[in-house]
Amino acid sequence: MLWLSPIYPSPQDDNGYDISDYQGVDPVFGTLPEFDALLTEVHRRGMRLVMDLVVNHTSDKHPWFTESRSAVDSPQRDWYWWRPARDGFEVGTPGAEPTNWVSLFSGSAWQLDDATGEYYLHLFSRTQPDLNWENAQVRQAVYTMMRWWLDRGVDGFRMDVINFISKDVALPDGPRLPDGLLGDGSSSYISGPRVHEFLQEMHREVFAEHAERLLVVGEMPRVTVEDAVLFTDPARGEVDMVFQFEHVGLDHGLSKWDHRPLRLTDLKASLGRWQAALAEKGWNSLYWNNHDQPRVVSRFGDDGRYRVESAKLLGTVLHLHRGTPYVYQGEELGMTNAPFQAIDDYRDIESLNHYAYEIGVRRTPPDQVLAALWVKSRDNARTPVQWDPSAHAGFTTGTPWIPVNPNRTEINAAAATADPSSVWHHYRRLIKLRHHEPVVAVGDFTMLLPDDERVYAFIRRLEDVALLVVANFSPAKADAAVPDAAEWAVSELVLGNYPDVVEGLRLRPWEARIYRRTLAS
Ligand code: GLC
Repeated sequence: MLWLSPIYPSPQDDNGYDISDYQGVDPVFGTLPEFDALLTEVHRRGMRLVMDLVVNHTSDKHPWFTESRSAVDSPQRDWYWWRPARDGFEVGTPGAEPTNWVSLFSGSAWQLDDATGEYYLHLFSRTQPDLNWENAQVRQAVYTMMRWWLDRGVDGFRMDVINFISKDVALPDGPRLPDGLLGDGSSSYISGPRVHEFLQEMHREVFAEHAERLLVVGEMPRVTVEDAVLFTDPARGEVDMVFQFEHVGLDHGLSKWDHRPLRLTDLKASLGRWQAALAEKGWNSLYWNNHDQPRVVSRFGDDGRYRVESAKLLGTVLHLHRGTPYVYQGEELGMTNAPFQAIDDYRDIESLNHYAYEIGVRRTPPDQVLAALWVKSRDNARTPVQWDPSAHAGFTTGTPWIPVNPNRTEINAAAATADPSSVWHHYRRLIKLRHHEPVVAVGDFTMLLPDDERVYAFIRRLEDVALLVVANFSPAKADAAVPDAAEWAVSELVLGNYPDVVEGLRLRPWEARIYRRTLAS
């Protein structure tokens, strides 16, 4: 199944997550007939295609917003969140914003619109006004658009920040942030009061008659595991699975820009808790990477000496969990973070706004901000896919919109497909294993060695078949001290990331192995 990030017409202020027309294709990507041809070819190959659905907000260039902002008495005024200045404040003065909420892309979440003297809410950039889901016409317009894509043949949706669509209509101020300037409004919009109701309505209106053939995954920043059970319980008719963010927040300090090294024990505790919580009801999605996260081999692996081994190890660990694994473009090649030196190299609005805010408002030294971007910027994952070693990595013969990673000469698809020991071939083996071994897809999951700082170990079991996965997240040798180690060590080695086999459960640097046993029932 292929998931496309937004391809709709867009001013591209947030890489297409600011949509100005939900029912078209941006010329930068092609045309609607070309999209239809893609869909046909995908289906002909026995694959499916999932679209990104961005309906928490539109672009400020969307006709709905143009109409809404045109006058206070516009019939579509209420399609967005408009509010007057705070009581006792003059419009446009500091502190006059209707609430103290910070935007997820820095600064206030409210933008004054001079034409009518009111403010509109934008949880993301000021070019991404939030839709008002309280308004039934908004919901119906969204459902109509979704049905239009389903009728065209698409196979489901990845729903952008879908747990933000219901807001506490009182819009209360949030607790002040450590820097004292703005407040955190997230308790008023994360999994807000009517979110389950809205998703159930969407399910009835859009998905119900196609439910068996569709995949619906909700992107849900800061979703709790308790809420995820509710969102994904099939009996409730909401979504099939959620993208949660706990494991990709473990190297955050006070904010994502404040880096602290990952502790393996935290990773095991987090992923293990999600595995356990969604074991009976609901379902997990599994991912290391997407267009918002730094490259995992640079982040949780070793993108130097052990790049290939650690990329394979990370793939092995993730794909052997219970849930639906996602592979982000280039992850299967072991692509690494971008070596950007200067702010001019960056394109991502979150990164650029953060830089401007830190330099302009907080007077942070530029080097310090660049060091944080180097590690966490979303642009790390957005450099062009490396197809071959040529100048722009085979991505374009023109000038790419963001620099290509210079390591294209070594890391590229042409080299990876030609080399049987590549990360790419390893990912194919992992996917094949899931297709052939039912225990990978539906077996239960038991985490082992929760306190071990270097070895990640777990068991999958389905009836009399058991798999043991052991992975050494370190550049030194490590013993996998699992129960029944002697029996496991002589059982069938299904897959590993080293070319040769050594006896025992002493793992080499960044080594991962999968063993299989048939147990007496
Ligand atoms: C989601 C997208 C991200 C985008 C944001 C606003 O988190 O994945 O790329 O910037 O929503 O739409």
